[in-house]
Amino acid sequence: MTRSPTAITERIDAATGGLRMRRLRQSDWSRRLVRETALGVNDLIWPIFVREGGGEPQPVASMPDVFRFSVEDCVEAAKRARDLGIPVIALFPYTDPDKRDEGGSEALNEDNLVCRATRAIKDAVPEVGILCDVALDPYTSHGHDGIMEGDRILNDESIAVLCQQAVVQAKAGCDILGPSDMMDGRVACIRAALDQADCRDAMIMAYSAKYASAFYGPFRDAVGSGGMLKGDKRTYQMDYGNTDEALREAAQDLAEGADMIMVKPGLPYLDVLTRLARELGVPTFAYQTSGEYSMIMAAVQNGWLERDKAIVETLSAYKRAGAAGILSYFSPHVAQMLKDGR
Ligand code: PBG
Repeated sequence: MTRSPTAITERIDAATGGLRMRRLRQSDWSRRLVRETALGVNDLIWPIFVREGGGEPQPVASMPDVFRFSVEDCVEAAKRARDLGIPVIALFPYTDPDKRDEGGSEALNEDNLVCRATRAIKDAVPEVGILCDVALDPYTSHGHDGIMEGDRILNDESIAVLCQQAVVQAKAGCDILGPSDMMDGRVACIRAALDQADCRDAMIMAYSAKYASAFYGPFRDAVGSGGMLKGDKRTYQMDYGNTDEALREAAQDLAEGADMIMVKPGLPYLDVLTRLARELGVPTFAYQTSGEYSMIMAAVQNGWLERDKAIVETLSAYKRAGAAGILSYFSPHVAQMLKDGR
C-alpha cells in the first residue's frame, strides 16, 4: 500500500534530495555489505599469565574468567590459539616474590618462567607467534619497570638490563619483543643488542604511547607486582593529558627501529590510536587493558551488560579507530564466536 506523501514527507524529500540513510540499514545483508570495518580473528593477540608449578589454573581475583596457567597449560592455550586462528599470544609471568630483587635479575635467567614457557610453546606449537614484554616489573621487588636509585628510575642503567632481557627472551624463541618500560632510547639499544646477538628476525612492537593509567590495576594483581609497587609510574609513563607527545614518542620509536607501535590503554585513548595510525601509517596496535576487561566483566556479572555484544562492539571500536590488531583478554572467546559465526 503506498501512502500519498504528507507534508512531512515532502519536507524531508526537499531537504535530503531523496537520500534516506536508513535505506542501507534495512536488512542484515545490506548492513554487512556496507560495513566499513570488521573485526576478524587475525586482529587478535591473546595475553596469557604464566606461573610456576603444575595443577589447576589459578583464577585472578580481579579478572573474572582469567587464570594463571602452568607452563603445561600455556602450551594447551597456544594449541587453542592455533586451532582458533589467533596469530599471537603474549606471555606475562607471575614471578614468585622470593625471586624478585632490586635489580630484577631473574629477568636475565634464561631458564626463567617466561623463557621456559616460550620454549615449550615454540616446541609444540611453532605456528603461533609469541610476544613478550621487555620491562622489569614482574621481577623487581619494588614493582617498577626499571632500576631504582632512591626514588628515581634510572634510564640508561635500566636500558642496559632491558637489552639483555630482550636477547634472553629472543634466544628462548620469542618472536616479538614488546618494550613496555618507556625508558628513552630503549628501542634503538634493544634493536642493536638483538642484531648483535644474531636475532635479526626478532620483531619489536614498541609500547610507544603508554600512559600512566589507573586501568592496569588488575594486571598488576595478576602478575603479583601491584602490592609491591612503590609510588607510581608517572616519571616514565605518559601523562594522560597529551596527544602531541604520543606522536613524538611513536615517531621516535620508529626512527629507532620499531617494527610496530602500540597505544595503551585502548578505549579511553581511541583518539590517540586514530591519530598515530593515520598520521604514521605503520601497524599500530591497541591494548585493551586489564582494567577495561574487568570493567566489562563486572557489569556483565551484575547483569547490566550483555557480554558478547559489549565485547564485539568495543573490539570493533579499536578497528574503526585504525588498529591493526588488539591485545585482549577476550581473544579466545571472540575467536570462538567468530568461528561459530555468532
Ligand atoms: C608492564 C606492563 C603493564 C601492562 C602490560 N605490561 C602494567 C604496568 O605498566 O604497570 C598492563 C596490561 C594490562 O593492564 O592489561 N610494564
